[in-house]
Amino acid sequence: MGRVLTGIQSTGRPHMGNILGAILPAIEMANKSSKDSFLFIADLHSLTQIKDPVELKENTFQVAATWLAFGLDPNKTTFYRQSDVTECVELSWYLNCFFPFQRLKLAHSFKDKANRLEDVNSGLFMYPMLMAADILLYDADEIPVGRDQLQHLEMARDVASRINHKVGDLFVLPKPIIQQEAQLIPGTDGEKMSKSRDNIIDLFATDKEIKKNINKNIITDNTPLESPKDPETSTIYNLYKLISSVDESQQMANQLRAGGYGWGHAKKDLINCICEKFAEPKEKFNHFLNNRNEVEDILKEGAVKAKKVAEATLIRVKNGLGYNS
Ligand code: ADP
Ligand code: TRP
Repeated sequence: MGRVLTGIQSTGRPHMGNILGAILPAIEMANKSSKDSFLFIADLHSLTQIKDPVELKENTFQVAATWLAFGLDPNKTTFYRQSDVTECVELSWYLNCFFPFQRLKLAHSFKDKANRLEDVNSGLFMYPMLMAADILLYDADEIPVGRDQLQHLEMARDVASRINHKVGDLFVLPKPIIQQEAQLIPGTDGEKMSKSRDNIIDLFATDKEIKKNINKNIITDNTPLESPKDPETSTIYNLYKLISSVDESQQMANQLRAGGYGWGHAKKDLINCICEKFAEPKEKFNHFLNNRNEVEDILKEGAVKAKKVAEATLIRVKNGLGYNS
């Protein structure tokens, strides 16, 4: 039947852009899919950039709690932490030994990071082989990824075919499933919402904080209350449209165009909509914050399931390479 697998970065608490643009569509797909699906938090990859143990652990928790709060079903999807199934590290060594250094040097993501980051460590360079191991360890054949990960997927296929060719068929060749370009979620300044832009909306903040964020950071022009306004160029309306029903957003657009409805009114409607719509996941998230062991237990259970598959693959690979296993 095949297996769908993907890894998620653990770079801190996801914001509204991550949630609407990436997490919710992925959860919907995973819950609908009849395929065996694996989803893991790539916390070993995070070590290439994060060296503070408290931050590393906290980031993983925040990401796991967010996916669970937004409805990822751990009974349908094997949900685990990469560092709990360290068979991937052993496999990555074998892969490294079959993959030409000169090819690894061509990785765009490495070149990009090497130019940007202060800490250019060897882990960043090996990153694609650990990612290949994440995939090949589970005989996964479909890998949903964004376009930026395509080259990594090519390398995973490449190293798998090199080994299959040299020592016999050990690996399933994975293929990328390119996710549709996510709908771009604007931040409070109207540009793409992004951690690095300081324009995020934190859906897990208190209602009061959300209100303050929107009132303070979405800048509006001084069109008088009674004048007509253009909804399409308004960040308030563009955000509202993403989360309200068709009727509700139509109503806001009509009110703006008609005049007599000010930016303050629109902000109030947006704030209420955010607070109502995300009340339930926020409650779940807060529950997890107070019961961290529940998230831990779910990840541990996922790791047990993942480990079974990983161990079997590793035995096959070690035998194939000439090691006793
Ligand atoms: P950030 O830009 O805040 O650092 P990331 O680059 O870590 O976010 O993105 C993680 C995931 O969330 C990616 O799949 C990305 O496509 C998605 N994403 C991030 N920001 C947005 C946005 N503003 N609109 C839609 N999707 C987004
Ligand atoms: N490199 C991926 C990213 O930055 C995360 C990742 C790690 C991954 N291992 C993977 C994705 C295996 C798919 C399959 O988003």
